[in-house]
Amino acid sequence: MAEQSMTRCDLMMFGALGDLAQRKLFPALYQLERAGLLEKDTRILALARDKVDTAGARRQLEEKVRTYVKDDELDSDTLAHFMERIDYICFDFSDTDGYQQLNDWREKGGGALIVYMATPPSIYGMIARNLRSEGCCDERTRVVVEKPIGHDLDSSRVINDQLADVFNENQLFRIDHYLGKETVQNLIALRFANNLFATQWNQNHISHVEITVAESVGIEGRWGYFDKAGQMRDMIQNHLLQLLCLIAMDPPSDLSADSIRDEKVKVLKALRPITPDLMETHLVRGQYTAGTSMGKPVPGYLEEDDAAKGSTTETFVALKAEIHNWRWAGVPFYIRTGKRLPEKLSQIIIHFKPAPHYIFDPDQKHLANNKLIIRLQPDEGMSLQILTKDQGLDKGMRLRQGPLELTFSEAFNSPRIPDAYERLLWEVMKGNQYLFVRRDEVEYAWRWVDQVMSHWDDQAAYPKRYAAGTWGPVASIALITRDNRSWYEDA
Ligand code: BG6
Repeated sequence: MAEQSMTRCDLMMFGALGDLAQRKLFPALYQLERAGLLEKDTRILALARDKVDTAGARRQLEEKVRTYVKDDELDSDTLAHFMERIDYICFDFSDTDGYQQLNDWREKGGGALIVYMATPPSIYGMIARNLRSEGCCDERTRVVVEKPIGHDLDSSRVINDQLADVFNENQLFRIDHYLGKETVQNLIALRFANNLFATQWNQNHISHVEITVAESVGIEGRWGYFDKAGQMRDMIQNHLLQLLCLIAMDPPSDLSADSIRDEKVKVLKALRPITPDLMETHLVRGQYTAGTSMGKPVPGYLEEDDAAKGSTTETFVALKAEIHNWRWAGVPFYIRTGKRLPEKLSQIIIHFKPAPHYIFDPDQKHLANNKLIIRLQPDEGMSLQILTKDQGLDKGMRLRQGPLELTFSEAFNSPRIPDAYERLLWEVMKGNQYLFVRRDEVEYAWRWVDQVMSHWDDQAAYPKRYAAGTWGPVASIALITRDNRSWYEDA
């Protein structure tokens, strides 16, 4: 990832008083300020329809930064300085006249312009067209857009075409915030900087891979959005498939954005379709019912605020993905993700095959094979489960399982791990696209997800109930035990 030299830039934030901007983006920008990474002259233009002036918008944003940044990371002088960077303009994004004010603001700066669309994707195209028609952008402008890019392949193409009408692909930064997570980036270092793993990373040595992204929260007041999406579109199409690509891709020839993204696309193209005959064995959808989460009773999905009774939207998906290529032939990737599971936990487990010839006590043959556990959150780190000789004269050659453990915060004494959005905003400022999703990645991911969802109405794919606070429907356990395996926590 040849780092481009940092250019001075200004940031225009559409949807600046919305939930994403207030909860994630402004706190992340504040952290960049605190780390001394914002250039001296960088300005931020907050844009929304709320009728407040700059002072009012600053007050509102400051309050949110204070809410979402930990107390010991808040510094009043830094925060005051950060707030001074912010101007606010209230306008309706469909009103082309309003864009003239943006131009006036822009012309006062001299650097590159970053346009962040923290808005519904349905208006990306309109904003892009208006920016162009009012002369608010040029070939140096960088545009950041959030998922979901559409709700299927066709609708994603419409959005991508609208953006492509105005901007070149090298100006577009499509966010998948999982790519900004420190441990997710570490997958690249782990795989391609350690020959130890590089030589083992294939079907000769790996039996199967598990990817779990579990959340303890439910829908968090987003029923309207979530019910149209479901867990497949909300999590699998983007975050989980990105993780799968990083685990499964071939080594890129260098760390440039396109080399990495070319390899990820090859994985997406090689994913085996889950056809109707595989629905029963390869896919489980679930929907949570009332239960207990973190010790408190919680309602079921259909009893949440604003819920439409009778919805069949899934809040849980478990699936068995297969990659049809030389490296991964015969190695299943078991993937599961859901809301209202017992804890917030994202982890990847690489299960290695047993040694080809076993010479130890037959009673111990059941002991687990080597496993590499990569914890994405919480407690970011890695653990390699190995077998060693048990200590003691009386133990002979008894084996014992134990971890080689690397917890990042302890090992590297790092006081805090930056939030994904800090990393992503910082990379946009530097103009590095390697942590952003290219158009063809989005579209190949949709192609695969669309074909799975085209069988949603099959009886086998109908959502099964699971109580909030459990690990999903029983069928998701059967999905893996059918292959004589178990999910890591259940092992
Ligand atoms: C978002 C989804 O992209 O990711 C949410 O829309 C989900 O439904 C969130 O809760 C999970 O992100 P994280 O970083 O908390 O694991």
